[in-house]
Amino acid sequence: MKTYKIAVLPGDGIGPEIMKAAQTVLDAVSRKFNVEFNYTEADVGGVAIEKHGTALPKETVKICENSDAILFGAVGDPRYDDLPPEKKIEPVALLGLRKHFDLFANLRPSFLYPFLYRTSPLKESIVKEGFDILIVRELTSDAYFGKKVLKEDMGSDEMLYRKPEVERIAKTAFEAARKRKKYVTCVDKSNVLSSSILFRRTVTEVAKKYPDVKLDYLFIDNATTMIIKRPKDFDVMVTTNMFGDILSDEAAMLSGSLGMLPSASINEKGFGMYEPAGGSAPKMAGKNTANPIAQILSAALMLRHSFKMEKEAQAIESAVQKTLHKYRTKDIMEEGMEQVGTKEMGEKIAENIGR
Ligand code: IPM
Ligand code: MG
Repeated sequence: MKTYKIAVLPGDGIGPEIMKAAQTVLDAVSRKFNVEFNYTEADVGGVAIEKHGTALPKETVKICENSDAILFGAVGDPRYDDLPPEKKIEPVALLGLRKHFDLFANLRPSFLYPFLYRTSPLKESIVKEGFDILIVRELTSDAYFGKKVLKEDMGSDEMLYRKPEVERIAKTAFEAARKRKKYVTCVDKSNVLSSSILFRRTVTEVAKKYPDVKLDYLFIDNATTMIIKRPKDFDVMVTTNMFGDILSDEAAMLSGSLGMLPSASINEKGFGMYEPAGGSAPKMAGKNTANPIAQILSAALMLRHSFKMEKEAQAIESAVQKTLHKYRTKDIMEEGMEQVGTKEMGEKIAENIGR
């Protein structure tokens, strides 16, 4: 039987609960498809500060290095809100892992199943048929990792892109589009920024190798309005690290619940880290009310992108949809449905994977 080693990093807040639910579903996949998942847990975030004095301990990085993929829960703990910027939980843990493993391609799907359109904050006429956007965000360059200066009276972050960095993210976007609606929108600020001029130019060049994929362009400010006005018209959107950060939060909110959306951060070897779009939601922690679907769908992305297990990934995705026709967590509850907790949602989805 084929065995996959998964580094499980539950993290803070609701992280551990939604992670358990995802493991319940993975166990069902393992039984049905005769594969083995070998989990090794490691600390990250506030729990890691408590035990090891840092949000990303060396032991955790080692465990990740010795695994085939990282399944990540959420980090963030209000007890450590006052730490100085260089010690803050989210940047230390997330940027640390992204850089260490060169996870340059961040896939952030934002979708709305038509039958869930009432959960969207947008009006019915815009979202009644649902939407399905994939934001492909560059994740290891730009202002995040450029040269930083902070003095008493000035601060600056260098917004630098090198051509190969744009080439690889563009390639990821076009390859993804080929498996979808074959439509890429390049989002940048090339009317003002040099790094964006390079980004757009390079995306345009890479596009020549994908004549079957249509390419469009939007400036970031315009893009933020267009995804509200006509979310259904978009397929893949490729963008820089900084703009992708903002655009993906906006896109995620259009679906109504952050608890539904997974994400993947992948390197050139296909190694990846898979995590829900939402945060640690400390106020919800331990209450068995959080929606585990984002974590469960993140596990599906792990199967698809790192383990090349397409039919198993689809089995999870279908089981999620099937379950939602009857059961809902609090955040997406509607009349006529049965409300269930985090754990129960995991169990129902696992049942729907079948035997
Ligand atoms: C995200 C987060 C991170 C980012 C922060 C927490 C460092 O907002 O994953 O989008 O800016 O990338
Ligand atoms: Mg963000």
